[in-house]
Amino acid sequence: MPLHSKVRALGLALLLTITAVGLSAWTTAPSSSRTASSDAATAPAPVPEYAENGMVVSAKRTASEAGVEMLKKGGNAVDAAVATGFALAVVHPFAGNIGGGGFMVIRNPDGSVTTIDHREDAPSGATQDVYLDDEGNAARTRSRRGYLASGVPGTVAGLLKALDEHGRLDRATVMAPAIRLAEEGFPLPHALAEDLNDRYRAFAEFPVTKAYFTKGSASSKYRTGERFVQTDLAQTLKRIRDEGKSEFYEGETASLIAEQFQANGGLIDEQDLAEYEAVEREPVTATYRGYEVHSMGPPSSGGVAIAQLLNAAERKDISQMGFNSSATAHYLGEAMRRVFADRAKWLGDPDHVQVPTEGLIQKDYMQQRMASFTSSRVTPEDSIRAGEPMLTGESMETSHYSVADSSGMAVSVTTTLNSGYGSKVVIDGAGFFMNNEMNDFVLKPGVPNQFGLSGTKRNLVAPDRRMVSSMSPTIVEDPQDRLHLVIGAPGGSTIITTTFQVIMNVIDHGMNVEQAVTAGRIHHQWKPRHLSYEEFALSTDVVRNLRTREWDVTKGVFGGIPQWGRAQGLRIKHPDRPDQVRVFRGSSDPRGPGAAVGF
Ligand code: GLY
Repeated sequence: MPLHSKVRALGLALLLTITAVGLSAWTTAPSSSRTASSDAATAPAPVPEYAENGMVVSAKRTASEAGVEMLKKGGNAVDAAVATGFALAVVHPFAGNIGGGGFMVIRNPDGSVTTIDHREDAPSGATQDVYLDDEGNAARTRSRRGYLASGVPGTVAGLLKALDEHGRLDRATVMAPAIRLAEEGFPLPHALAEDLNDRYRAFAEFPVTKAYFTKGSASSKYRTGERFVQTDLAQTLKRIRDEGKSEFYEGETASLIAEQFQANGGLIDEQDLAEYEAVEREPVTATYRGYEVHSMGPPSSGGVAIAQLLNAAERKDISQMGFNSSATAHYLGEAMRRVFADRAKWLGDPDHVQVPTEGLIQKDYMQQRMASFTSSRVTPEDSIRAGEPMLTGESMETSHYSVADSSGMAVSVTTTLNSGYGSKVVIDGAGFFMNNEMNDFVLKPGVPNQFGLSGTKRNLVAPDRRMVSSMSPTIVEDPQDRLHLVIGAPGGSTIITTTFQVIMNVIDHGMNVEQAVTAGRIHHQWKPRHLSYEEFALSTDVVRNLRTREWDVTKGVFGGIPQWGRAQGLRIKHPDRPDQVRVFRGSSDPRGPGAAVGF
């Protein structure tokens, strides 16, 4: 999707502000109005949405509103998150889903934190050979398009497990907005109408997809504002509402999925679906300058990588070094290279391979990893390899939503079909897209996936195994143990670096959540060798400085089209004085058309 025009304006404002008046303007900028400025020398700072009772931030306004509808009915943050998740499956077919999977981090009102892993797993018939051609090369399209590309979906199991174990409202109530949106339809936003039209050729490859998500011919176009009704999806959601998890995994929907996958050369069968379970796991927790950062553990690499990056950043005075200065970009780029080298070697499904999570997130370990850092030049490419963490006994496209309620409960969810519209396969009679998550496995060691990420045998395709993810739903508590920030992002490999930089923008640079989400970003993932930067994120002289340090600096991820994650975040401002109230401040990334909605 092209960069939203707002981000260009804000990016330009960011650049002008930083170059004209320095970073201090950001920390002192007025925060009560989008346009007013009490200081003529500063550009107006973008400000977040405000609310006093709770907030939902997601990639679609209607989905955020579905969540807030639950808060208004007396539901908690989990009820709101589940309503938002099902609504996204209707209004955001690009990434919102019931045919994919994701990860959820939940902070309870008492401050305890848990996570629900509802990542897809490989069907029992999945082996490495399925994804290799006759010459033993990775047959990439098999894992990206069509019936072989899908893992067993986890979203319905994950959302309903969260609702059963942490929600207050019943299934019928939380699913009502999604069913309404599917049954009565919703006016097609311009971006979605255009995107569906642009994808005509890809969708027409699959007759069912062509029937549900095109107007039948390349010349017949969806129009902006046209009502988009999804009758079969509404029926599917109603069956799930009435019968619960067992309907999707053992009932009519399961039969539709299994029959169509078996008839079209896919792997998913009825037993794979019947055996699928969402798994509760411990969060990965890091401390950063007195804050506690809770994120998702394996099979996601997100929490481990963010903890490692924070451990590296904590060793420097990033605030004093300056936002996206040469010194900061150089140091963070070096940390990112080392962290992504570790990701490639060590991450896998913890139920199938040993992942040294504890060793990787130790502060001492990152100290060792950064020992080869020099401030004057980039570390030579061949000397960056994965580290050797202590082994302990422990066994583009995605979507994020952040929710918080008045009790201190918060939910951070990242969900995905993997690519936009996943495998492009729609289930006939059920009306939803299936994921292409099999591409997140290592198809062959050394062969990168669609995000350029490589890995080792720990992440090879194997029956029932969950593929490594970058999804990083995260919740941050302040040094007083109060809820501080709920954050996450889509964007393949940039999910990790986006989430990390938003956390640093808030804690180190004192940005409000809108500024933190909007600010330009850098990205390095070890391989390929580029230090990527977003348009306006680095000034010309910073780029020049980095090149003198021998960085291969490139605008846009991998030097190609921009695919920077669209973060969805909210921050809680606790009262400093007795006459103040606690305020929720939310921001949906201006790179996309989402919305923060509060009440
Ligand atoms: N499918 C993207 C990820 O899980 O990282």
